Amino acid sequence: MILTVSLNPAVDRTAAVDSLTPGCVNRLKNVKDYPGGKGINVTRALRLLGADVIATGFTGGYTGEFIEKAVRDCGAECAFVKTASPVRTNLNVISADGSVTEILEPGPVIEADLIFKFQNGFDELLDRVNTVVFSGSLPEGVPADFYGRLIRMAKEKGVRTILDCSGEALREGIKACPDLIKPNIKELSDLYCKNTDGRDIEDIVRLTEKIRDEGVGAVCVSMGEKGMLLVDETGGYFGEAIKLEPKNTVGCGDAAVASLAYSFDKGIPGEDALRSAIAVSAANTQEIESGKFCTQLVAEYLKLVKVNHTIHKEV
Ligand SMILES: Nc1ncnc2c1ncn2[C@@H]1O[C@H](COP(=O)(O)OP(=O)(O)OP(=O)(O)O)[C@@H](O)[C@H]1O
Ligand SMILES: [Mg+2]
Repeated sequence: MILTVSLNPAVDRTAAVDSLTPGCVNRLKNVKDYPGGKGINVTRALRLLGADVIATGFTGGYTGEFIEKAVRDCGAECAFVKTASPVRTNLNVISADGSVTEILEPGPVIEADLIFKFQNGFDELLDRVNTVVFSGSLPEGVPADFYGRLIRMAKEKGVRTILDCSGEALREGIKACPDLIKPNIKELSDLYCKNTDGRDIEDIVRLTEKIRDEGVGAVCVSMGEKGMLLVDETGGYFGEAIKLEPKNTVGCGDAAVASLAYSFDKGIPGEDALRSAIAVSAANTQEIESGKFCTQLVAEYLKLVKVNHTIHKEV
């Protein structure tokens, strides 16, 4: 059983408009709502892979109901703590000229009593799972070291931990030594205030080794259309991305995280886990919706994945 943690989920609303004019009435067309937030994408992708999943985090209001319905509909169990204010809605307005305007809500402020309630519930859920995945930003009110705190609780109970976030939450989370982190290349660069543009793989491997020296088990760096690198105790592996015409690449990292979590939970070795993550995230580029992919396409892409050993250590 895998537990996903979504502390700041969102409803992603897309709409079209001929042209957007500030200060005027703007009439939207083709309004569509999608369940969003990185942890929710991971939950749905994990279910498609066939994993048993419990989803926890914070939800509230009618938008929270929408998120929970999507979680239940995909076959995962809901164990959310309710907030008084609703889950945020992020509006993407696409104009006829192709420009996209994003109007983002701040999301709820989480009070100390809810953080306490969540932590108690999380502690109980840990007794039912082997792996926990933490995804996305922290809502206002939640301290920057919160993922770190939860990772320590999980490790005490022998539960594997996977962290996918950025900035301060990632920096603080690393201090608790999760089993796997999956920054994208920008998130990795930001961590060390280094520009990784034009760096070769060996340079990036050295950055991942720094993180592993701090006690993180494995580091997977996703590099968009370039591919993905995984460094663990057995060595470093780089896989090229599948060559394709993407429909939507937002959330591909979440599909990769779901695949890595599934493999880790099953005890599949790092190199094979990397192959699957590349195939699953590639299949996700062929869907408009995040957290979705065609399993047949994954099988096809899996045959095309090429992985090179970048460094090799004796086990
Ligand atoms: N254009 C593409 N073609 C093929 N594969 C892609 C493409 N874009 C992404 N991928 C695959 O998806 C993986 C994850 O993508 P990316 O590095 O963009 O993650 P991310 O920035 O964490 O995304 P998000 O946070 O939106 O989920 C890549 O390592 C790659 O394997
Ligand atoms: Mg990401």
